[in-house]
Amino acid sequence: MIRKIAFTIFVLLAASGAMAQHSKLQKSGTATQLSVNNQPFLVLGGELGNSSASCTADIESIFPRLAKMSLNTVLVPIYWDLTEPTEGGFDFTLTQKILDQAYENNLKVVFLWFGAWKNSMSCYAPLWFKNDYNKYPRAYTKEGKPLEIASAFSENVFEADNNAFSQWMNYVAQADKDKGTVIMIQIENEIGMLEDARDYSKEANAAFNAPIPSRLMNYLQKNKKKLHPSLLKKWETNGYKKEGTWQEVFGDDLYTDEIFMAWQYANYVERLAQTARRTYDVPLFVNAAMNSRNRQPGEYPSAGPLAHLIDIWQCGAPTIDFLSPDIYDTGFSDWCAKYDLPNNPLFIPETRLCENNGARAFYVFGEHDAIGISPFSIEDGSESPESSLVMGYNRLKELAPIISAQQGKGTMNGVLFDEQAKERVINKDNMLITARHYFTLPWDARATDGSTWPEGGGIIIELGPYEYIVAGNGIVVEFATKEEANMSQRKQLGEDGFAETGLNSTPTIASTNNWQGVPRVGIGTVDEVNIASDGNLKYIRRLNGDQTHQGRHVRIPVGQYSILHVKLYEYK
Ligand code: DGJ
Repeated sequence: MIRKIAFTIFVLLAASGAMAQHSKLQKSGTATQLSVNNQPFLVLGGELGNSSASCTADIESIFPRLAKMSLNTVLVPIYWDLTEPTEGGFDFTLTQKILDQAYENNLKVVFLWFGAWKNSMSCYAPLWFKNDYNKYPRAYTKEGKPLEIASAFSENVFEADNNAFSQWMNYVAQADKDKGTVIMIQIENEIGMLEDARDYSKEANAAFNAPIPSRLMNYLQKNKKKLHPSLLKKWETNGYKKEGTWQEVFGDDLYTDEIFMAWQYANYVERLAQTARRTYDVPLFVNAAMNSRNRQPGEYPSAGPLAHLIDIWQCGAPTIDFLSPDIYDTGFSDWCAKYDLPNNPLFIPETRLCENNGARAFYVFGEHDAIGISPFSIEDGSESPESSLVMGYNRLKELAPIISAQQGKGTMNGVLFDEQAKERVINKDNMLITARHYFTLPWDARATDGSTWPEGGGIIIELGPYEYIVAGNGIVVEFATKEEANMSQRKQLGEDGFAETGLNSTPTIASTNNWQGVPRVGIGTVDEVNIASDGNLKYIRRLNGDQTHQGRHVRIPVGQYSILHVKLYEYK
């Protein structure tokens, strides 16, 4: 009897997908960590270009290279048109090839469901769907122009998309349940309306003129204190109404159109997310194209999972675990800050593939307790062990056990510098940590000879009192107690340690015994280290003398990625 019950439980769990939960999100202090096979996991990722997983030969040639690039995860699109080339006729060849290649190359996979929408458009819908526009209607502009964007208000569109997604999810659940290669799923890609801020189809107009659903109104009232400031402002400006149409509650402007549209997209996605959760339980997310460069809704993909719409998305799609920014624009660190919220962990599924990616990876883990980062079109990157991303990812793989153990404790900072943002002072407990771009060293000619400043970035981890890890690339770090920083002004010193003539050259007249026993910190030791898989530090070499400016600072030159173990000491 007991065996029979146990077997029934087994079958039920297997059918619900719960047995196969290799990957989940969990809280650790203030951080949300991704846990894979019960170990915290930092995604050192890369996303394939859009057309790079559309034949088995390309997958076979690309995946071994990704392993050489030191990725631990690849983000790969699944194309609806190739998955269901004829209505009801499914082909999972590419999916299986991706799973096999990932497994062989020791990579985890984040699948991207390119279903009804990819960058707003419906270009990945199969041709049989596109042709049957009466059954699968389009969104319309205000002037009545049909768009190549399937209408989110059509139940037929949803059913076709969801049916394909569900068949594919079933396949993945079966194919992956023992290996657990798939660690997350992104639903659709950069959803959003273009040309106009909302759909003007007949169904959309009817919904727009109807009262706001009570589910959303209740959510707004219940979460009033936590709403995103821009949403709160719109609601406040229009008198905090508890019911009414979209325009009555939020006013008559493009941003109201956007809120309305976001609600529809979120509810649509929620139903796909429920399909995924029922079938194979891994974390689920949606990605957004940024609303940058002062563009208005409709000029950017309106209503996507953007930070200012987080409440709409969270209420409409509670099964989605987080919203993710695709960061291509300038202002990388500002975008990161917008998506690292108490109710939203930072994961960057796409960022431009560039020399700065290595430094940025250190920054996001140090400053934002990020789940991961993933440059786009990764197969175009270099697998040379000297390339910035490969060096950075290798060091981060070593650091991962330490970073994971410190996430959510407030003991880490990330720094990211370029020619404009050269310096940051971190004010923590009794310490002032001043970090700068490496080229700020006054004797480094590259600061002034017209060289481009590659971004310098790193992580500073406080392991304990007066003990730090400083790791990354292209940074210089100084430590001081707050009291000593208040007492003395820093003087610009040359490489030999002499004061630079003409720079800060007015001597400070200090009165006798001015310091009165104020403690100072000095650099005790700086060791370059490796980190073993259990998190233990392994000595490589001692850095001292010229390499620490005779004990004045800790530094990692541009072009090198190192992990430094720093011990400070106090003296009076
Ligand atoms: C963002 C999209 O999400 C990607 O699929 C790709 O189109 C890039 N933009 C740019 O190429």
